[in-house]
Order: sequence, then C-alpha cells, then structure tokens
Amino acid sequence: MGPPQWSDLGMFLQTFMLLATEAGLATCAQEAWATKPQTVAEYVDAPGTSMLFCGMAIGYEDTTEAVNTLRSHRFPVESFTTFIS
Ligand SMILES: Cc1cc2nc3c(=O)[nH]c(=O)nc-3n(C[C@H](O)[C@H](O)[C@H](O)COP(=O)(O)O)c2cc1C
Repeated sequence: MGPPQWSDLGMFLQTFMLLATEAGLATCAQEAWATKPQTVAEYVDAPGTSMLFCGMAIGYEDTTEAVNTLRSHRFPVESFTTFIS
C-alpha cells in the first residue's frame, strides 16, 4: 500500500460507518489512535507486519447521554462545490 490507497481506506471507513448506521449502530472514527501504533499493537497483539490506519468506536448510542446530543455544524454543499450544467 502507498499514498494512492489512502483514499480507498477513507471510502472503506465511510461505507462501513454507513452500513453500521443502517444496522442501528453508532460509530466514531478515531484517527488519533494512529499516533500510538505500538501501544495499540501490543494491546490487540497485532502482527508486526500490520499498520494502524485508524480506530473506530462502534456500539449502540445512549441517547440519554448529553454528550450524544452534540450535532456538529455542516457547511452547505454549495459552499465547497461548483455545479456545472
Ligand atoms: C477518518 C476520521 C478520523 C477521525 N478521527 C478523529 C480523532 O482522532 N479524534 C477526534 O476527536 N475526532 C475524530 N474524527 C471526528 C469524529 O469521528 C466525528 O466525525 C466528530 O466527532 C463529529 O461527529 P459527527 O461526524 O457525527 O458530526 C474523525 C473523523 C473521521 C472521518
């Protein structure tokens, strides 16, 4: 794998997250784990040939928790896209 495949991984993550949502699960991608690859590898007993790209929390959302009421701002699609017809 090299730089051309990073976007493939990103698309895989998104597809996985969409399917998880469809199955009633909540997810949170966590790229920060990639800054601690050795610690994570030891914890999950990963083979030395593996590369840690991204972590992901997955589970059932507790809608009564205040932290899960946060809704992040989304820019309107027109603000970063030019449509040509
Ligand atoms: C690939 C990817 C990696 C991410 N990694 C982190 C991370 O390491 N730490 C973090 O606080 N948020 C990270 N985020 C953002 C959160 O996963 C999440 O998108 C954010 O909390 C906003 O939630 P929302 O997407 O439901 O609005 C990442 C998002 C993506 C798409």
